[in-house]
Order: sequence, then structure tokens, then C-alpha cells
Amino acid sequence: MADITTSAADKKEKEYFTEVPQQAPGFFLKGSHQYDWGLKNRLSRVFDPKDGRTVMLAFDHGYFQGPTTGLERVDQTILPLAPYADCLMLTRGIQRSIIPASTQKAIALRASGGTSMVSPFEEWEGELDGKPFKMSRPGFEPLSNESTALTIEEAIRLNASLLAVQVFVGSAYERQSLKNLTDLVDGASRYGIGVMGVVAVGRAMARNAQYFRLATRIMAELGANVVKCYYTDEDFETITSCCPVPIVIAGGKKLPELDALKMSYNAIQQGASGVDMGRNIFQSDAPVAMMQAVRGVVHEGLSPEQGYEKYQDLKSQG
Ligand code: R5P
Repeated sequence: MADITTSAADKKEKEYFTEVPQQAPGFFLKGSHQYDWGLKNRLSRVFDPKDGRTVMLAFDHGYFQGPTTGLERVDQTILPLAPYADCLMLTRGIQRSIIPASTQKAIALRASGGTSMVSPFEEWEGELDGKPFKMSRPGFEPLSNESTALTIEEAIRLNASLLAVQVFVGSAYERQSLKNLTDLVDGASRYGIGVMGVVAVGRAMARNAQYFRLATRIMAELGANVVKCYYTDEDFETITSCCPVPIVIAGGKKLPELDALKMSYNAIQQGASGVDMGRNIFQSDAPVAMMQAVRGVVHEGLSPEQGYEKYQDLKSQG
């Protein structure tokens, strides 16, 4: 209609660009090139398309630990860090109560739970040689007895890009936690939401490359779009190499800042796609400085020593 009513003098010529073939670009993220548009778009909010890496800030610890040191007041300690994160990993309770809905950060939402730090160990009680006895069942990790902890509708309402589910390979509840993973993958993939399988390390499970290769590969094979595991000093590159989807590392217990930066640097050099770090940032003496130093190592090509210098400079500026 517009073409008919516009005068010939005002009319812009149509341009069909017949000599220019339409591009069919690939996708920047490992193992993700055959996903649908919505999932790729959500993953592009978590991982920076410029370098394929992410700095996820993990502060979901309260889902089984309550007010973890450094997270007693998330509004006071975590909100100042958020501007330097690519993605916030959190529970729905904290998201609704504390995180401004105007945030532009990607959300990785905790989607499994149901146990706590004080869950009792499974025990047998009975009689032996006429005397009462009580014993723990080796391999029963009380924390591993998790269920899925939110519906897909809730994840959509909260605009999640990723759902995080703990997986306890080698524990007595291994099958159940893997079912939690596959149930979430089935639900989330209907709506283009990603699932991140988190390798949980219980008392009975070794923190070595052999165990992490097994656990990360199983989660990827069962449909996790991203996998989170710990860094190992030996053979970490074999874990990232045989996992067909991106791996991000958890920080684990608080380390001296330089050691945490070295760990982040080494993980990236050995094929990790980023960090999903909590205590090594929010329990630092200077969390905002540490957050920026980690970002420098992951995204800006800083060495651990340069990152540490940045940390000290920022810390001294208060
Ligand atoms: C672990 O279960 C929690 O979900 C944390 O998100 C995870 O451990 C990463 O935090 P951190 O760097 O403190 O280990």
C-alpha cells in the first residue's frame, strides 16, 4: 500500500542484494551449534560471545547451608559484585527477595535441593549377637538425597537462562540425582532453557581427574548443556577435552587470592569456558576487587600475577 501512495520521487529503490550470498554463521560455544535459537540466545547471555567465556557469580549456597559466611546479607555483599558478573547463580528465594528485576545479568537458577548440612546420615539399627548395634552405611551421602526444586513454569517466570542441578555420581542417590538432571533437561529443552549439571563431591568421592572425567561426561551424555566441576592440578585438560559441552569450574573452599587467580587462569588455559565462583570472591578481604581480578583473568587475558596486582590496587583504593 505504501508503495502505491508514495510519490515516485520519494520512493526508495528496492535492493535485493542478489550478488551477496546470505551468511550461515556457526555458533561460538562448544557443542552448542545445533541448538535452537532461544537456547543459543540464552547461552549467549551466560557466555560472552566475544571470547566464549563466562564469569558466573555463585551465591546459591544457602539452599543447603543457610546463611553461609559472606552471604548473611546478600543485599549488602552480593549486589555490589553483580555489575562485574556475566551471570548470577542463585536460588529463586534470593532472586525474588533481593535481586532487582531490572538486572541485565543472565540468571542460573538453582533447581535441585531438599537436604541440608544437618541431614542425618543413613544408619542401620538392629541386633548382632544379641546386642543392639548401630552403623552408618558407607556411601550414603545425606546431602545427595535431592529432588528437583522448581518447575519449568517457575523458571520461565524468573527468566532463567540456565537451571543448575547437583549430580552425585558414585553416591547411593546417584540414580535419583541423574533422574533430576534428565527431568530438568526434558522440561527445560521444551522452552529453550539450558541445564547446568553440577558435579557434587561427597565424602566417598575422590576429587581427581578420573572421577571428574566420568561425572562430567555422564552429565553431558544425559543432556546437560553446561557442566560445572572442580579444578584438578593433574590432567584437568583431559576432563575438558572429553566433555563435549562447556565446563566451568567451581571455586571451592576459600584460598589465598593469588592461588584462586592461578586456579582460574590454569583452568581457562586447559580448556574451561569460565568460572562459577562463590566463596573465593565473596569471602575475600576485598570482594569487589577480587571479582574484578577474576574477570581480568577470565576475559582480559591477565596472568594470575597481573590479576593479583589488579586486586591489590583496587583493594588499596578502598
Ligand atoms: C555448591 O553446591 C554451590 O552450588 C555453589 O554454587 C558452588 O559450590 C560454587 O561455589 P564455590 O565457588 O563457593 O565452591
